[in-house]
Amino acid sequence: MALAEQLEALAIDIAREAGELARRRRSEGVAIAATKSSIADIVTEADREVEAHIRARLAAERPGDGFLGEETDAERGSTGITWVVDPIDGTVNYAYGIPAYAVSIAAVCGEPSPDQWEALAGAVFSPPTGEMFHAAHGAGAWLDGSRLAVNPEPSPAGALLATGFGYNPATHAGDLARVARVMPMARDLRRIGAASLDLSYVAAGRFDGYFERGLQPWDHAAGALLVTEAGGRFTRVVLEDMPGRPLFVAAGPGLFDSLLATTVGA
Ligand code: IPD
Repeated sequence: MALAEQLEALAIDIAREAGELARRRRSEGVAIAATKSSIADIVTEADREVEAHIRARLAAERPGDGFLGEETDAERGSTGITWVVDPIDGTVNYAYGIPAYAVSIAAVCGEPSPDQWEALAGAVFSPPTGEMFHAAHGAGAWLDGSRLAVNPEPSPAGALLATGFGYNPATHAGDLARVARVMPMARDLRRIGAASLDLSYVAAGRFDGYFERGLQPWDHAAGALLVTEAGGRFTRVVLEDMPGRPLFVAAGPGLFDSLLATTVGA
């Protein structure tokens, strides 16, 4: 088995285990452990426990690899491979009991920074639905045993789009202006609250496209590989007004250029 597929198999195993742990903890009740970048940006005890579990499993299976996770310190490895992990993407949904959250695990090689790495493998597991989205570089994107393909073109009724908003209230006006620019090309807009699922749904053709500013590496590492392996396009654009808050756009080939131009809004 090629390396990317070995890493994919490991990501799948650990994402499923981690998701089951998250679901069990959710049924026992959720404790908010802390707030992070703003009062709306929370971390639960389960985020920390699930990340610790994933990190320990990866360290046991692949001791030389690096680690970049949402909740703990990054660690450089010696193999050139880094695991990029969101233990619970959609934490606010998780805390409120909304069944739209996921465990996202990716293996990347090269510098552990999204503008430099190459994604090798990824798994996005949705505990509430039991769906496992996964991909390996060059070997396609899959939902459980079915191969995924993006929608080549949106329907004549317009594109079904998804987006998200950052936790910083100061950025909301700009994000809403972007939504206003995009709505004429949309049949409708979804805001699920878990970027890894938004990207998985683009890969699965459930959405025609997705855009959001300010994602963190662990929000998109696995989902972006799913999109490109499903025949779609994904990009990260640094905009002048806030270079630290890039814009991310993903879509099928027939929509991508117009969605990118509209969201950038030059
Ligand atoms: C968040 C979710 C949300 C997106 C935010 C992310 P978290 O991740 O993916 O949909 O809008 O930008 O930070 O905090 O739930 O892991």
